[in-house]
Amino acid sequence: MTHYRHRISCLTLMLVAALGGHAAAAKDAANPAVQAALADSFEARGQAGLDRLKQDTMQRICSEYEGKPVPDDLAKQIIDEASAGVRFPTDGQYFGDWRGGEKIAKTGTGLQSSDDPAIANGGNCYACHQMAAEEMAYGTLAPTLAEYGKLRGNSEPILQYAWTRLWNSHAYNPCSHMPRFGASGILTEAQLKDVMAYLFDPESPVNQPGAAP
Ligand code: HEC
Repeated sequence: MTHYRHRISCLTLMLVAALGGHAAAAKDAANPAVQAALADSFEARGQAGLDRLKQDTMQRICSEYEGKPVPDDLAKQIIDEASAGVRFPTDGQYFGDWRGGEKIAKTGTGLQSSDDPAIANGGNCYACHQMAAEEMAYGTLAPTLAEYGKLRGNSEPILQYAWTRLWNSHAYNPCSHMPRFGASGILTEAQLKDVMAYLFDPESPVNQPGAAP
């Protein structure tokens, strides 16, 4: 239970810190009065600077159109920018160690005011996704990733797709609720490779039978 509550609080953190634009209060974030109230209400602490109150273009557009369809030209702009920014593995290798990926998927610390920036961030995947069948506590905000590699295979297009999802999910869904792990510098290239291995390695708990729909 402690674990579970910890994940929930980290989910909130991720939403506020990494996504900003989707938090309910951010809906009117472009309004100068709201900006002033936000600036008055928060103080910079540790690595959590007040720069987090500033929305980028994607966050501004997605806040403005929250609950409504984003106009095609703006959706295309977000998708094009997100796609153009993806950096694929420099050595062409997508996979690290699934054991490292498991730890990252289960760890929600990082980017909070009280976290040591010298310690690697977690990915907190379980806050939103079901993954390995053996893990009982997971969020349901996002689709299940159970048996992901087993069901999708590991062709080059699939690996490119999954890497891009991890790097910047907005390349596929303009107002995605998934953190931009690569683009926002939440996870390093080596960590992303470990997460890829956790998703795709046949030995990984994710690809053991039992949880797929
Ligand atoms: C804050 C919630 C959240 C977190 C944390 C999160 N995701 Fe997601 N993810 C989503 C949502 C929502 C989708 C569905 C597509 C969308 O809305 O963009 C998604 C989609 C995906 C997809 C594409 C699924 C498909 O059908 O191909 C993959 C792969 C994925 N996530 C992997 C991960 C991994 C690995 C982590 C941890 C490093 C993670 N996600 C963390 C919310 C999240």
